[in-house]
Amino acid sequence: MSDQNLLTNRHSARDFSDRPVDLETLKAILYTAQAAPSWENTQPWKAYLALGDVVQRIRQHHFELASQGTKSWTEVVPPKTWAATPQANLDAWRANMLAFFSDEDQTRFVSGQKHLFNAPAIVYLTLPRDASAYSAYDVGAFGYGILLAAEAHGVSGVPAYELVRYPAEIRQEFDIPTDEALFMGIALGYPQDNRLNQLRPKRAPLDNVLQVRQ
Ligand SMILES: Cc1cc2nc3c(=O)[nH]c(=O)nc-3n(C[C@H](O)[C@H](O)[C@H](O)COP(=O)(O)O)c2cc1C
Repeated sequence: MSDQNLLTNRHSARDFSDRPVDLETLKAILYTAQAAPSWENTQPWKAYLALGDVVQRIRQHHFELASQGTKSWTEVVPPKTWAATPQANLDAWRANMLAFFSDEDQTRFVSGQKHLFNAPAIVYLTLPRDASAYSAYDVGAFGYGILLAAEAHGVSGVPAYELVRYPAEIRQEFDIPTDEALFMGIALGYPQDNRLNQLRPKRAPLDNVLQVRQ
């Protein structure tokens, strides 16, 4: 697959089949993603991979909390408001989703979040608790590398805040040092063939984001 196809074919999948992804494939994906650049090669990330019974327990626990409407308390706090440009893009994404999904699809979308997308594998990414925004840049590169390497192996994924909304359900399964903050989760697996996995959000025109001087 050419690089361009790898980058443009990748899309988030939000409904996975029960088919497991084998551990050797997942390790190959994570190994490749470690080629990500980072500030003076600091590689501030750590990765925790939940599979099998562990991922089942996390999904069950998450479903119970999310169904009760339990408030999120993530270790890296998301913004309450967005600047004008990201807010406009967010609004366009929501409008596009509402237009693309039927009422039934939307119900399944919401339910899919509670079930953590039925993912057979979830990789959690941490950063040192006092990390700078540059380390966030670095772990983002690592996370994107995971998604692209997965795509190259025929494995789909979705990076999701939903996956780290309740850090206790993750910490009780792993030995994660207290000086690491759970930052992001990426669900990985083989997608079901349905509309939840066919959403293709468009990007802003290049002219909106690029200024060139020569
Ligand atoms: C930091 C971050 C958090 C995200 N959180 C969620 C989430 O909680 N639930 C979800 O369904 N998708 C989530 N996404 C996926 C985005 O909605 C998706 O990447 C975006 O709409 C672009 O679509 P694409 O990945 O299919 O190209 C998240 C993505 C990122 C990078």
